Amino acid sequence: MKIISVVGARPNFMKIAPLAHALEQHNRDSAKRPIEHLLVHTGQHYDERMSRSFFEDLRIPRPDIDLEIGSGSHAEQVGQTMIAFEKVVREQRPDWVVVVGDVNATCACSITAKKEHLKLAHIEAGLRSFDLEMPEEINRLVTDRLSDLLFATDEIASQNLRDEGVPESRIRMVGNIMIDTLEAHRETAAELKIEGIIAANQINAATAPEMQPNAPYALITMHRPSNVDRPEVLTPILDFLLDEVCADMPLIWPIHPRTQKQMQAFDLWNRTLARPNCIMLQPLGYHEMLRLNMQAELMLTDSGGLQEECCVLGTPCLTLRWNTERPVTLREHGGGGVLVGNAAENLRREYRQLRRQRRTPQRPPLWDGHAAERIVAEIMQAG
Ligand code: UD1
Repeated sequence: MKIISVVGARPNFMKIAPLAHALEQHNRDSAKRPIEHLLVHTGQHYDERMSRSFFEDLRIPRPDIDLEIGSGSHAEQVGQTMIAFEKVVREQRPDWVVVVGDVNATCACSITAKKEHLKLAHIEAGLRSFDLEMPEEINRLVTDRLSDLLFATDEIASQNLRDEGVPESRIRMVGNIMIDTLEAHRETAAELKIEGIIAANQINAATAPEMQPNAPYALITMHRPSNVDRPEVLTPILDFLLDEVCADMPLIWPIHPRTQKQMQAFDLWNRTLARPNCIMLQPLGYHEMLRLNMQAELMLTDSGGLQEECCVLGTPCLTLRWNTERPVTLREHGGGGVLVGNAAENLRREYRQLRRQRRTPQRPPLWDGHAAERIVAEIMQAG
């Protein structure tokens, strides 16, 4: 059996690492039919900090094939990935193509695989924000429509697929593969010192004060086009962060390249760097981010992955979006998260409420660190 798996952007790496390790584990058992595994990196993310460091931290094998697509518009990224990936699958003729998540690489390689009549498996299937303004929702819909095996993270996702008419025989509720990575790296992360992470990554060390050990802090990440691409949206969010959150406690902000670029374009960057208590960091490695999340007083984020990690760690989480494809992480479904959108008055109200919330870790069914093993077994059984 020959499998090609695909990664493209940062949130893919923590999903592919457990799969690669489970495939290696499978091959160590001589009683089992061996699997040849080729890892393809489309190169959508390519920086040391957005890509390479994750391969080292998560011990992901080096990609067998790097398509080096790089940055570009959606059409450029998807189109160029399809052209390059078509050559790969024509040469390699895998039995299965396995894609993860919802980035442009996921969608591009799914379309290519099906046009080449290959079997396709999607890990993290069935998530729906029902918001077609999100590029990721388009990627999710296309990928799920084309997939032969759909690995869902939870029951809500499985039901979304049924509602869309996906036959039951294709759906497998296997849990959340990203939590496999969290569980595998929790101890390593716990050994890191918060002050050390800040010292090694801070962009504005000259202006922000030193963090005291064990001092409470808030953590933010933000990169969605809906939050950062328009000054009339980004500026009020920033005002809230700098005027309210930073007045309460240090705000630690690992900055995404897209967000930094937009803050510079809208003339918001220098003001943020100069704000005392706003600790601006370079994009962090996996362990560093996990460590910060483990101790944060609260998280503000528009990342779906962090929402899920907060759920398992118990970090109170304000999601800076109007909708989510991951409702299982929200308070009404037993998680600790709240959707707050991006209007400043909303943020203010929910932030004040959330400050009173206690840490209560929640673990949806099968978010147990063993999703990858189940996935490999299912693919083998499907043949
Ligand atoms: C992509 C994903 C998004 C995911 C996010 C995580 C899609 C549609 N979006 O969005 O779902 O949550 O990744 O980061 O696939 N850049 C660098 N270095 C890099 C990569 C990008 O500096 O290694 C800069 C580029 O200038 C680029 C910008 O970041 O223009 C945005 O990158 P892009 O790949 O277009 O999308 P993301 O916003 O990162």
